Amino acid sequence: MQSILILDFGGQYSHLIARRVREFSVYCEIFPCQKAAEGVDRLKPVGIILTGGPASVYEKGAPVLDKNVFTLGIPILGICYGGQLMAEACGGKVASAGKSEYGKTETEFVTDSALFQDVQSPGVTWMSHTDSVANLPAGFLSVARTVNCANAAFENAAKKLYALQFHPEVTHTQNGGLILKNFLYNVCGCTGDWAMGDYIEQAVRDCAERIGDGKVVLGLSGGVDSSVAAALLARAVGKRLTCIFVDHGLMRKNEGDEIEAAFKNRDLNFIRIDAEKRFLTRLDGVTDPESKRKIIGEEFVAVFEEEAKKIGAKFLAQGTIYPDVIESGGGAKKGGGHGGNKADTIKSHHNVGGLPERLGLTLVEPLRLLFKDEVRKIGFLLGLPEELVMRQPFPGPGLAIRVVGEITREKLDILREADAVFCGEIKRAGLDRDIHQYFAVLTPVKSVGVMGDHRTYDYLLALRGVVTGDFMTADFARIPYDILAAASSRIVNEVRGVNRIVYDITTKPPSTIEWE
Ligand code: XMP
Repeated sequence: MQSILILDFGGQYSHLIARRVREFSVYCEIFPCQKAAEGVDRLKPVGIILTGGPASVYEKGAPVLDKNVFTLGIPILGICYGGQLMAEACGGKVASAGKSEYGKTETEFVTDSALFQDVQSPGVTWMSHTDSVANLPAGFLSVARTVNCANAAFENAAKKLYALQFHPEVTHTQNGGLILKNFLYNVCGCTGDWAMGDYIEQAVRDCAERIGDGKVVLGLSGGVDSSVAAALLARAVGKRLTCIFVDHGLMRKNEGDEIEAAFKNRDLNFIRIDAEKRFLTRLDGVTDPESKRKIIGEEFVAVFEEEAKKIGAKFLAQGTIYPDVIESGGGAKKGGGHGGNKADTIKSHHNVGGLPERLGLTLVEPLRLLFKDEVRKIGFLLGLPEELVMRQPFPGPGLAIRVVGEITREKLDILREADAVFCGEIKRAGLDRDIHQYFAVLTPVKSVGVMGDHRTYDYLLALRGVVTGDFMTADFARIPYDILAAASSRIVNEVRGVNRIVYDITTKPPSTIEWE
């Protein structure tokens, strides 16, 4: 099987590159830039991609790359920082452009470059840089330009060295996918000999090898990620897997019973643990979102450790996926594999950032490098039912991060009822497939209203609906007013404690999907 080696310099989009390469049916792995030699040795790649990164090439401590990589005769594509490193290593000069070039930028391409075959010129690219290549190394040609950047792409076709100042992996770059595909197929000679099914085989093999004849407990939440992880592990270790559903009392209306009904009668060891009291006791009076997440993570692990002890399991499996890792500031350290370099912490996803430093169990996370839509593809390939695979995501900390501020049982009940009405209206309108995640959020704000002849002073509830491909970026869903009106009217009439409703019209970024 042909492989592409992706060397990570700490860019926000490094795993998006990997995901695009997989979309073109080519196998790839990400290695931190410091491990270039090991990556080359292990993968014997037909091509190398250097990612972007936050540093400047001349900065003290900026990540570097062994210059020998450029003389191996392996085709290389440098993206942004990776391209600047290539220019510098081959004798060119990088300089601060003085002014940052950020956002969508009109770009002219030299379309007889192998990279830009069938790419329309001019087109829009996504730029995010301050430095750029001022002088090209000998033997290199500029093959794209913008108003502010004369070397928006450059190449030495004879040596198969290519560089882009813009980010082809981001959907904002028109034809970005095609540019990557051109590198893979036109330059590296890839034939597309890899498929998602191969990922399953490899993950099953890796898990079986790792777990040996041991036992494993898996945190099953009923969502797509943990269900797919359970199906993979069941293939790897059969009945030595026990799925544990921890009902923390932070689930949506009727959800606990639905999950139990869905999994109890399958050919699986399934245990439901009623842990509402211990979770709510620990969360009592806690208002800070990160503290809530940490507490919930710790409590989950405590339950898993207790159960693992009873069963004699040494491994803890989780359905962690890549956005959980990257937004929790994840890197190469936890969970094995080659995660790349560390990114900034946005939220500690309970199944990543909430884990104690000294976990008494070995972690197994077979989906750690995948995006949600890739996990869904695997779910279908494993034969899981559509209603499970297409379920909208629900965060591990549950309604704890949708009751803003202090959590009480009363607030949770209000939110459960309101959320059920909103979700019911979305489904009734047939919008549940078009809106990728929709839910209600209970705020701590109270406002004055009037009901009948009486003054009310009740909670402000927010409704949120988003459309998204990978949950890393999202737009708010344009839900028709009639449907919002129906949901609003039903909620204020049917749910005691809410007298005002707003719809969240922010995108991610700068907001996030969940409120906490
Ligand atoms: P944000 O709020 O970060 O959410 O834009 C992105 C996606 O991740 C889900 N989410 C979580 N999933 N554990 C999870 O398993 C968590 O702690 C967690 N926090 C957020 C969120 O629902 C959205 O789909």
